[in-house]
Amino acid sequence: MSQPLAPVCVIGAGTMGRGIAQVALASGHPVCLVDPDAGQLDAARSEITARLGRKDPTAPARVEERLTTVTELTDAPAEPRTVVIEAILERLDVKQDVLRRAAAHFGESCVLATNTSSLSVTAIAAGVPDPSRVVGMHFFNPVPVMGLVEVVRGLQTADEVVETIAELAVRWGKSVAHVRSAPGFIVNRVARAFYGESLRLVEEGAAATETVDELMRSAGGFRMGPFELMDLIGNDVNFAVTQTVWASYHYDPRFAPSLVQSELVAAGRFGRKTGRGYYEYGEGAEQPRAVAAEVNAEAAASAVPVVLHGSDDQLETLLSRSGLEFDRKDSDTPRIEFPGMGSAMITRGRSAREESYRRSEPVLLLDRCLGPATATALALASTDAPLTDVVVALLDRARVRAFPVADVPGLVVARVLSMIANEAWETAHHGVATPEDIDTAMLLGTNYPMGPFAWSARWSTSSLLGLLDALWSSYRDPRYRASYALRSAALGIPGGNHE
Ligand code: NAI
Repeated sequence: MSQPLAPVCVIGAGTMGRGIAQVALASGHPVCLVDPDAGQLDAARSEITARLGRKDPTAPARVEERLTTVTELTDAPAEPRTVVIEAILERLDVKQDVLRRAAAHFGESCVLATNTSSLSVTAIAAGVPDPSRVVGMHFFNPVPVMGLVEVVRGLQTADEVVETIAELAVRWGKSVAHVRSAPGFIVNRVARAFYGESLRLVEEGAAATETVDELMRSAGGFRMGPFELMDLIGNDVNFAVTQTVWASYHYDPRFAPSLVQSELVAAGRFGRKTGRGYYEYGEGAEQPRAVAAEVNAEAAASAVPVVLHGSDDQLETLLSRSGLEFDRKDSDTPRIEFPGMGSAMITRGRSAREESYRRSEPVLLLDRCLGPATATALALASTDAPLTDVVVALLDRARVRAFPVADVPGLVVARVLSMIANEAWETAHHGVATPEDIDTAMLLGTNYPMGPFAWSARWSTSSLLGLLDALWSSYRDPRYRASYALRSAALGIPGGNHE
């Protein structure tokens, strides 16, 4: 006979606690939900029953059978095999106190999991008599929908405790990303660059927020742009997480918060919940739309015949999508030559002016995209108006809208995604998680279109490294220092262990 499923005690019946209780119940575990607020317990019970009942009309009866709710932890059934998962307010002393009391109530063999999103699992564990029983089990909101759990190993967590929680998460239909206790774990750390670098671009006047959002969706393949997403999450919440992660990494400039966002927070413009953030949400408010370059119909004709120098998947795909005939020439510097006019190149992290100066010809830089076959927008920066006209016309033939942005190093998608990837390489380099787990976490925890290691491979590690080094040369800001792991992989240095 198989062993009965371990009892689960969820402490805290708020947004996360009720979601966790729901998935545990749906998998057949007996669940005890603890919250000093009886109103929260009642609300949690009705919400769980209604949500499970929508899928299966017999579920509510089973919930009644298997769900206990108590306002005092000491009233929870004291089964020794209990898996305790706390989802109470985000304060170290309060979490330590609750887990200490849970350890005393359930005994030595219970597992103590914390759903903390920003506190150190090692620090939480240090407040409990046996820290080896404490582990992070970081769910994402809404718990029944999101497919990821970060299983966080504190400095003193026992292997079997990590295994128990990872197996449980898989049983509950989640994918697990293993992570060593480090600020932001994987998702809240690697995703910082998505917001932080986008804010830098806006701060520098590279593009308007709506243009960055449009490009991240239509060229980057992200479901939402960074500014609309910050407005949805709440700028107060997003800013607080950024500040915590920044402080936890001892004020590393890679994580530095933006004055653009702190001003917004100071003004109370938190986003959708206050009716105004980067955008307006009041009644009748219209969202600004990114403005694409106008197409000059005559320009297309003047562009032929073009020559593709060297090999680059994005340039080649855009040319074939445009239906234009083109010749080929060997070259180490991939570009499309418009004879007598200049060249279009993919950004390498330098400005168009610098590339033009080096080449002694007009240059138009195209941003990178994640899927050249499907992208519907691209940013560009150019040193020459007639060259811009022919490239915009070519892109139009390829059904790609062109968005001119200021001539900043690295443009938009290439720059933001390189910074995300760099953070991913650094996370792996410091042994916080494997590249596979980082990609899983970013795909499932944030719904990224690909994992950062997958796009590192698609764009090539050497092009990412080149872009970051060029950003560093331009700004001399240590936030742009490339991870040694990325550099090793790009240069093929033996012993680079993350390729
Ligand atoms: P919430 O505010 O919705 O719920 C917290 C619940 O804990 C409340 O019902 C409160 O009465 C209860 N509580 C407070 N002190 C308690 C105690 N000593 N004993 C028992 N219950 C107590 O908070 P939410 O959003 O569910 O967050 C809970 C935890 O999950 C926090 O650590 C948060 O950082 C983390 N988290 C939150 C996510 C989110 O998107 N909301 C995502 C991932 C993690």
